Amino acid sequence: MNPLLSHLQPYPFERLRKLTADVVPNPALKPISLGIGEPKHATPAFIQSALTNALDGLAAYPATAGEPALREACARWLHRRYDIAVDPATQILPVNGSREALFALAQTVIDPSQHRDAGGPTVVCPNPFYQIYEGAAILAGARVAFANSDPARNFAADWSSIPEATWATTQLLYVCSPGNPTGAVMPLSEWERLFALSDRHGFVIASDECYSEIYFREGPDAAPLGGLQAAVQLGRTDFRNLIALTSLSKRSNVPGLRSGFVAGDAAIMKAFLLYRTYHGSAMSPAVQRASVAAWNDEAHVVENRRLYREKFERVTPLLAEVMDVALPDASFYLWAKVPAHLGGGSDEWFARELLAQYNVAVLPGSYLAREAHGVNPGAGRIRMALVAGVDECVEAAQRIRQFIAERS
Ligand SMILES: Cc1ncc(COP(=O)(O)O)c(C=O)c1O
Repeated sequence: MNPLLSHLQPYPFERLRKLTADVVPNPALKPISLGIGEPKHATPAFIQSALTNALDGLAAYPATAGEPALREACARWLHRRYDIAVDPATQILPVNGSREALFALAQTVIDPSQHRDAGGPTVVCPNPFYQIYEGAAILAGARVAFANSDPARNFAADWSSIPEATWATTQLLYVCSPGNPTGAVMPLSEWERLFALSDRHGFVIASDECYSEIYFREGPDAAPLGGLQAAVQLGRTDFRNLIALTSLSKRSNVPGLRSGFVAGDAAIMKAFLLYRTYHGSAMSPAVQRASVAAWNDEAHVVENRRLYREKFERVTPLLAEVMDVALPDASFYLWAKVPAHLGGGSDEWFARELLAQYNVAVLPGSYLAREAHGVNPGAGRIRMALVAGVDECVEAAQRIRQFIAERS
């Protein structure tokens, strides 16, 4: 067996299942889950029919690079969304969801033979973070360094906490903007700083942008800044050492389709294509055609955003009266602080008791983070995914208010 497998951490939902295994949720109330961040809005009918109308292509193996039509649709979307020019022939690859690509990218760019004296190469991650980053780093033979999120700076990752000696061994940096679970969007100034570090130390930046289309504000600067867009604004039109990962899962409510794309540095893309060819990561032709339809349409994304906006507008003020929580920059999560007088401010206590008494599932924040720099930056927080319908989300917020009010 690969000994590195034993270093993988249990997934947060596994930990939640264990935590609540002996809990009997209040049977008088209908269960509401704000736990798992899985989109629940309906998949648009035109995407479903594009998929079923494409079943004639199943008798041939698809190319790992994907059909030119798909890469061109992705390039056109990047142009419309970010006003940037990306070459569909050399700077874009389809992926079967961003999750597998986040993992596979680490296997492509990490060289475990380097920095042996320093304990091996490093992958830098935000903390809290999407758990795949850590597993990808471990299985690629790297160690992980964490930059904790700072609640005082809109949950920005504190990149300055990573010592220069660690940056010197860093081969890959994961950025998650908009962030899961904090929803924070990284501003241009932070990008400038990370690009400078990447230039100095030669590491690759993987920009995980799967929540880029779920935002709540309106106006010209409302849409989150993308990594490639930041690069162009800073004159880095070759996207050197930068790969952005974009997904249809949340944008188009198709987490089951498994479709996204990566775009950026052509040299990395070439190596990534080689890796993916051996790994067997080609996208089904039917999925490719459904994806073209999805990337070509924006109306369903506007409607999707409207549904999330309505939920956040109604739920956030209800919760903000009883706990420290605010509208995030983007994403579909609320990242709330457990009031100190409840279970000593413990996120695990809150998740267990809320489930037992009010049949609402939330995820303890400490499960999404690791202890680093002396703290677990997720401890004492809970993540609530507003993925259910509006009425259910409002009902959950009212139950949480009652749960907190009863103890105040
Ligand atoms: C931060 C983040 N990145 C990537 C993903 C993976 O999304 P997909 O593989 O569906 O594109 C998720 C899914 O929840 C996520 O939260």
